[in-house]
Amino acid sequence: MTIQKKPLGTLGVEITGVDVGRDLSGGNGDNLFGEIRQAWQEAGGLMVIRDQSIDQQQHIDFSRRFGPLFHDEGQPPLQDTVSRYLHPDYPQIYRVSNKVDDKGQPTGRKGAGTYWHSDVSFRDRPAMASVLYAIQIPPYGGDTIFADMAAAYDALSDGMKAMLAGLNAVHDFAVAAATQYAKPVVIDKDFDGANQCLHPIVRTHADTGRKSLYVNPGFTSHIEGFTVEESRPILDHLYRHATQPEFLYRHAWQPHDLLVWDNRTLMHYAVSDYSADRYMERTTVIGERPV
Ligand code: SIN
Repeated sequence: MTIQKKPLGTLGVEITGVDVGRDLSGGNGDNLFGEIRQAWQEAGGLMVIRDQSIDQQQHIDFSRRFGPLFHDEGQPPLQDTVSRYLHPDYPQIYRVSNKVDDKGQPTGRKGAGTYWHSDVSFRDRPAMASVLYAIQIPPYGGDTIFADMAAAYDALSDGMKAMLAGLNAVHDFAVAAATQYAKPVVIDKDFDGANQCLHPIVRTHADTGRKSLYVNPGFTSHIEGFTVEESRPILDHLYRHATQPEFLYRHAWQPHDLLVWDNRTLMHYAVSDYSADRYMERTTVIGERPV
C-alpha cells in the first residue's frame, strides 16, 4: 500500500490512506512505519494522520514505534501533577479534556498547554514526540499552534547565532506552575529537583542534523550564568522572533486526527477559546539528552 502525503503548512505533513491500528501490525508494518516516520521528519516535525479509529492499546503501540513512553515500565513518569489525569487502565495515556463525568469530576487536564512550550523540556531526557488523538472536538475553537524552531534559528542574525552558541538555559517546571492555567492544579512534588535541568539553547536534531532554538516560555527559567533579569530580554526576543506568523502553523482539528509533533524542533500552544466539550488522549515519547 502507499500512503498519501500533503504538506501541512511549511512544517508538517498530512497523511491519509493508512490505518495505524491495522496496517502497522502486518508483515509490512516496519516498512510502512519507516515511510511514515521519514515523511514526518522530512516535513519538519509535524504530522497529522487523518481518520484514525484506534483504541488506547493501539495508540500506545503506534507511539512506542517512536521510542519508549513516559510511564512505560522502567521509564520515568511525567510530573506528578498529571498523575490524576492519566487513563486509569493505561498510565501512558494523559487525558487532555475540559469535560466532566456524570459525577462532576474532570475527565482530563483542562487548559493543558495553554502557553508556548516544548513538552517536558524540564527533564534531562525531555519528550521527543507527543502523539495526540482527537476523540471529541468542539464545533469551533480549540486549535493548537506550532512554531518552527529550526526555521526560527535559521533566520537569526550571525551575531545572535554566535552569541547563543555554547549557552545553556535552565528549564524548570516551576515556571509553568506559575501560569494561571497550571497554578490551581500543581502539587508540591512538581517542584522537586527531577523537574529542573539544563539544556543547550541551540540543539542539534539527532535525526536531521538541523539546529533549532530550544527555549520556551512555558518552562525556561533563565540562561546559565545570567540572572533572571539579564536573561529576560534575550529570551523574550527569541520568543517574539520564533512566534512570528512566518514560523507558525495553526492546526484546526478534525475528529479522529492523530497528530504527532517533534518537541525537539517545535513549540506548541493550545488555544483555550472554546467552551464545548474537547476530549483528547496523548502519549509522550521520551527522547535523547539534547546536544
Ligand atoms: C498539550 O500541550 O499537549 C495539549 C495540546 C492541545 O490540547 O492541543
